[in-house]
Amino acid sequence: MIEKTFFQVLKERRSIRSFKTTAIDDTMIEKIIGACDSCPSAGGLQSFEVYRIKNKEMKDEIVRASMDQEFIAESPLLLVFCANSTSPGKYGKKARLFSIQDATIAASYAQLTACALGLSSVWVGAFNEEKVSTILGLPENIIPIALLPIGYKDEEPQVKTTRGPHGIFHELQ
Ligand SMILES: Cc1cc2nc3c(=O)[nH]c(=O)nc-3n(C[C@H](O)[C@H](O)[C@H](O)COP(=O)(O)O)c2cc1C
Repeated sequence: MIEKTFFQVLKERRSIRSFKTTAIDDTMIEKIIGACDSCPSAGGLQSFEVYRIKNKEMKDEIVRASMDQEFIAESPLLLVFCANSTSPGKYGKKARLFSIQDATIAASYAQLTACALGLSSVWVGAFNEEKVSTILGLPENIIPIALLPIGYKDEEPQVKTTRGPHGIFHELQ
């Protein structure tokens, strides 16, 4: 099994939207979920949930709830990261925001770990929250935050430009 270094991962991770049908080894899935379990979280409460969608019809419904982004259903591993907005009850008004941050961090860890293992993925945020909740049968307190289709890449990433470190970093004297 490939294991890239952290800085290799930062350099090589790119969004991929075409996947081979090759199945993902269970040990890789365990590593990805293990990474999520190691994330920092508000108060250590881990107020997020990760769902793996295996059901083909459910995947197709998710595609329809996600502006017909077909690659979502074509990936051999589809994870849905959700905020659990009730678990950090002690945080009052901040609870919802913290749970969203927890879920976002977990999805980031999953994406980076997938890359470290030689897999590719794309973060999908363009979906209808309510429809995805209904498809998954989620209770009201569980809010879908990000979809992460993962697999072996079947395309090269698109050319990308960034703002560069000087564009995003601001030093206030
Ligand atoms: C919050 C968020 C939402 C995104 N939603 C989508 C999406 O719905 N569909 C998609 O194809 N890519 C989506 N992306 C992926 C971005 O398009 C991609 O990360 C960006 O173009 C930079 O390219 P890179 O990931 O290859 O570095 C999303 C990324 C983020 C962080």
